[in-house]
Amino acid sequence: MQIDVFTLFPHWFDWFRTQRHVTNALANGHGLDAIDPRATTPLKAGKVDDVPFGGGAGMVLRVDVVEAALRARYGADPVELRETRRVIALTPGGRLLDDALADTLAAEEDITLLCGRYEGFDQRVIDHFCTEELSIGRYVLAGGELAAMVVADTVLRKLPGSLGHADSAAEESFSPALEGGPEYPHYTRPADWRGWTVPDVLLSGHHEQIRQWRLEQSRRRAGGPLP
Ligand code: 6GU
Repeated sequence: MQIDVFTLFPHWFDWFRTQRHVTNALANGHGLDAIDPRATTPLKAGKVDDVPFGGGAGMVLRVDVVEAALRARYGADPVELRETRRVIALTPGGRLLDDALADTLAAEEDITLLCGRYEGFDQRVIDHFCTEELSIGRYVLAGGELAAMVVADTVLRKLPGSLGHADSAAEESFSPALEGGPEYPHYTRPADWRGWTVPDVLLSGHHEQIRQWRLEQSRRRAGGPLP
């Protein structure tokens, strides 16, 4: 898949791109590009934002600037672009990201993430260029960059070959394999540390019993069996 992130701080993603699951995904033919709308702005002196009509604090990312950036990248009218790919605005009030949505996004060919800064986007960016708004939690970040990295992180790690072990992403917290519940506890050597022992079943070698125990633990952590 290809993830395009439109951001005024493209260099922030240089670090992100060095993370193991990301380098693995890139080596497997997937892509992550950070695109700077300042590079294609039609305005003088690299201007990308403006004061809000009606007054108020902060600056707003301009619709003409975002349009120019999308046109330069895709060679199409962004109004039509959103018919063929998910164009996601990162906003604090958007749909909350969860594991199921991450699965859905990981199944896409291409996704576009738009990072707002300042007071966010001109509403016409969202209304006419985007397919949806996405949030990573009910708190406000200074910009969408960290949220875009969260989205890219959880999506890229789901791609086959991104993680070291093929099963690592299948049976984990919130996955269907665990009925959407949190993950079971893990233990490793030493089996006894200061009298803190490891549950016997994990040392038993009985795979079916271990599977049952883990599911039980996951259900307990979720507060009982899930519907
Ligand atoms: Cl996507 N953006 C910003 N600015 N703040 C957020 C967020 C996004 N998600 C949670 N807080």
